[in-house]
Amino acid sequence: MNPEKYRKDFPLLVRGFEGKPVVYFDNACVTLKPRQVIEAMNRYYEEFPACHGRSYHKLGMKVTEEYEKARETLKKFVGAKRSGEIIFLRNTTEAINLVANSIGLKKGDVVLTSDKEHNSNLVPWLFLEKKAGIKHEVVKTGEEGILEPEALQEAINRKVKLVSLVHTSNLDGTTFPIKELAAVCRDHGIPILVDGAQSVPHKEVKVDRLGVDFLAFSGHKMLGPSGIGCLYGRYELLERMEPFLTGGDTVEDTTYTSCRLSKPPEKFEAGLQNYAGAIGLAEAARYVERVGRENIEKHEVKLNRLITEGISGIAEILGPGPEKRGGIVSFTVPGIHPHDISAFMDMHNIFIRSGAHCVHSWFNARGLEGSARASLYLYNTKEEAEKFVEVLKKTVETFG
Ligand code: ALA
Repeated sequence: MNPEKYRKDFPLLVRGFEGKPVVYFDNACVTLKPRQVIEAMNRYYEEFPACHGRSYHKLGMKVTEEYEKARETLKKFVGAKRSGEIIFLRNTTEAINLVANSIGLKKGDVVLTSDKEHNSNLVPWLFLEKKAGIKHEVVKTGEEGILEPEALQEAINRKVKLVSLVHTSNLDGTTFPIKELAAVCRDHGIPILVDGAQSVPHKEVKVDRLGVDFLAFSGHKMLGPSGIGCLYGRYELLERMEPFLTGGDTVEDTTYTSCRLSKPPEKFEAGLQNYAGAIGLAEAARYVERVGRENIEKHEVKLNRLITEGISGIAEILGPGPEKRGGIVSFTVPGIHPHDISAFMDMHNIFIRSGAHCVHSWFNARGLEGSARASLYLYNTKEEAEKFVEVLKKTVETFG
């Protein structure tokens, strides 16, 4: 894959930041947006800035058509059976909160997660422990930071009512064997929710092949706008669930004392939605498909290998070898705070993230302050990877 072919589509890579070229290595947080996505969103604002499903004039009809087309695109992107299984919401966090609050968990029910979850797949369960009396149990990952199906199997008992797991970790880039983990859940009749924020943009993720019941992902990590994401949910489950937010569009009819709920997905999309965002997200999905997620994955591993080899003498990298870490290089350098590494890189216009990456629980359990993290995407180049290695060496010389 030749990233040069795509770089011209990204205004920030063409113009730089304040006129200076940048190396953007913070893609696990937010990716850049190609002009095709920006133009698709602008089309909504300029040509048909109206409302979905309510107003029967030409503009309203056009929004309904484009919004439902976007849903269809996302359905295909993740391999869902019907478009009603795709709910548009703000992001992965909101998707997880929706399931947590809508699936009907009761006092004494157990939810299992792993010890490598982002706060978005931890805090909702902590709150449900307080509010609803559920129990949240953490299953430990094993060798190479992977949750083994056997460990999940052992943790399951008849009180477990939901398993909620990260697919690819934003902490170290490792990917859980979700297909096998989903099979364990299926054997026990327990639904599985997957946080796909870091997997869906980077690898072929199809819910039908993986056999998962819920999949959450965000637009801003896959070339799309921020403030838009999706929850895929198996239709039979969505039908049984009550909405988390209620109001306009979630109901078909009301009296002063009652309401009749709409069907999924509408019953979960309360109020006017981010139509431009959904249209932009669909455009982003088409862009990613054109590049090909298998190509993206291979490209990231190639750059990851180059960086890993370049910095292994000076840095301690979290997780296994580059082949198993996709586009993520999370590392510490003894004696230098991760924020200092990031600040030094910033002086050279190399943008990385440092800190606990919203996985404080994992770092706290190990008495660590955090790491510095370079995260790659389809537009990053070999030259950028080499520059990163060179500047990290300079950082060590300067601070050392
Ligand atoms: N989850 C995002 C990250 O890892 C915010 O940077």
